[in-house]
Amino acid sequence: MKRKVTKAIFPVAGLGTRFLPATKSIPKEIMTLVDRPLIQYAIDEARAAGIKEFIFVTSRGKSALEDYFDHAPVIEAELKAKGKKDLLDILYQTDMDSGAIAYVRQQKALGLGHAVWCARRLLGDEPFAVLLPDDVIAAEKPCLQQMVEAYEEVGGNIVAAMEVPPAKASSYGVLDIREDMGSLVSVKGMVEKPKAAEAPSNLAVIGRYILTPQVMENLDSKKTGAGGEIQLTDAIAEEITRSNNVYGYRFRGQRFDCGSKAGFLQATVAFGLARPELHDEFAEFLGEMTQVRKAAE
Ligand code: G1P
Repeated sequence: MKRKVTKAIFPVAGLGTRFLPATKSIPKEIMTLVDRPLIQYAIDEARAAGIKEFIFVTSRGKSALEDYFDHAPVIEAELKAKGKKDLLDILYQTDMDSGAIAYVRQQKALGLGHAVWCARRLLGDEPFAVLLPDDVIAAEKPCLQQMVEAYEEVGGNIVAAMEVPPAKASSYGVLDIREDMGSLVSVKGMVEKPKAAEAPSNLAVIGRYILTPQVMENLDSKKTGAGGEIQLTDAIAEEITRSNNVYGYRFRGQRFDCGSKAGFLQATVAFGLARPELHDEFAEFLGEMTQVRKAAE
């Protein structure tokens, strides 16, 4: 029996400068996709996959995130007094068990690998998940749950993977494929942000990981990689030579890069259309917009 994956790390220390001026005073992860902050999507996905402990790696200026996951007694009392049960239900969906969330700070922006390493004392000797909240994945079965199921079969280290246009591969961690088994891919190499001509494939790492404790140990060395940063990709790649147990997992679902403005807008359209209460009005509006654009052309 494999150890169950019950802990997840959410690296949320980034400054979110691509979204200035919005991120001048609010954390990027609190930015709203339809009506819920980005981070809520990642939390819900983790919960669906059986995660019980949530570790946030934060930085200065992220206190709105902590407040978001706290109880909101004033709003709650007001809604109760007015008998607004539907809104209370929405509020309660965001409740977390006391003690289920821990916050550690990354004092210096030394890279994703370093952010994950900052959580090392909270993990112990067990497998753990990492979710990058910028990557929002719409899927019938949540992506991390799909990966946990794959992990229960093969164990080891599993990274979410997706084919990207070759010209875009240099924005990602990229997998060098040893054996392609369909959803699962056994990996013989991993390169963080390779030059376009040097990318071993166009199968890119997306921000969901299930990792063995050895990866955390590998991060102890604090070796720097692409961009002069401590890269999670490099610490996972070390496991290929050491234990040959690294897999890519082609998840079923649509991924949105909410770390970019275009991706955020696309996600807003997709998640807006997926809401029954918004669908008709929104679809009609989008249809009209498309016609207006076509007419203008
Ligand atoms: C990070 C990882 C990269 C991965 C990407 C997915 O990069 O380092 O390997 O492909 O997330 O979103 P970042 O986007 O933080 O530069």
